[in-house]
Amino acid sequence: MTHRIALIGGDGIGPEVTAEAVKVIKAAGVAIETKDFDLGGARYLRDGEILSDAVLDELRTFDAILLGAVGTPEVPPGVIERGLLLKMRFELDLYVNQRPFSGVAPGHVTPHDFICIRENTEGPYVGEGGVLRKGTAHEVATQGSVNTRMGVERCIRYAFELAAQRDRKHVTLVHKTNVLTFAGDLWQRAFNDVAAQFPQVSTAYNHVDAACIYFVQDPHRYDVIVTDNLFGDILTDLGGAVSGGIGLASSANLNPARTGPSMFEPVHGSAPDIVGTGKANPTAAILSAALMLDFLGENAAGDVIRAACATAPTGSTIEIGNAIASAVASH
Ligand code: IPM
Ligand code: MN
Repeated sequence: MTHRIALIGGDGIGPEVTAEAVKVIKAAGVAIETKDFDLGGARYLRDGEILSDAVLDELRTFDAILLGAVGTPEVPPGVIERGLLLKMRFELDLYVNQRPFSGVAPGHVTPHDFICIRENTEGPYVGEGGVLRKGTAHEVATQGSVNTRMGVERCIRYAFELAAQRDRKHVTLVHKTNVLTFAGDLWQRAFNDVAAQFPQVSTAYNHVDAACIYFVQDPHRYDVIVTDNLFGDILTDLGGAVSGGIGLASSANLNPARTGPSMFEPVHGSAPDIVGTGKANPTAAILSAALMLDFLGENAAGDVIRAACATAPTGSTIEIGNAIASAVASH
């Protein structure tokens, strides 16, 4: 079966790392048909298009979306992020952002040492709020955070279902229930209710500030983490930093209900400072492609790609891509 993949290389190093990911998928012998979508900051600067409803509807017809990175310094912060990336997350209902981390624990070489499940459609990312009296001494800015029982619970349920299939069967809720008492209480009660339905899964709770210490000093304690959108954004950059670098950190923006395509992208950004230098590590994009293959039912290919990435080849973007592709092809 041929999988139809929408490719959004995007800005900066995005197209470079995405090309290596496609190379590796093909080396794995998985049949894909790709279509390039010219979207991102560069496209916006050229003709003002960010993500029209027509293009969004076309994206809906694909089996998955593989994205490199979007954002360019010439466009003010938020325009492309909100108009393209967050629009896809919200409109395609990609409510789980799954970010696996490996290599953090000596002796643990399995690709999925711990996994962060970040809620991906709510929290402060919804953009609730506004400004009043802008630019005056009496300026007011509010920025809300939306937490719905449905949204929180479906994300937590996904984390428990995932943990139930893993060896350690352990889920940690990360929040800030001691300060964000309204949202925290909703998250904690939803977590407790779902946990009661998974007696085989053990649980823990960490405040997000303490979790930052544990990420650095004792990541072994984690198996599956479930957390709010913004905490998950911040924690997963830290997760990348403590598990081999952000050049290895992959992510899956999932619609587990499969009412449309899911989207796969490295955690890193467009890194305009190194574009064209060959310094970008394509491994995060390649591991994101492996997550995509898992979700498309091509788990065996996903495993082969992860094993090839675990040998951590060095060199330029293309050299690393070639090394992983040939390890995959000779498997
Ligand atoms: C990420 C990114 C995005 C986020 C930005 C680019 C909007 O940092 O995927 O982690 O904050 O979610
Ligand atoms: Mn981020």
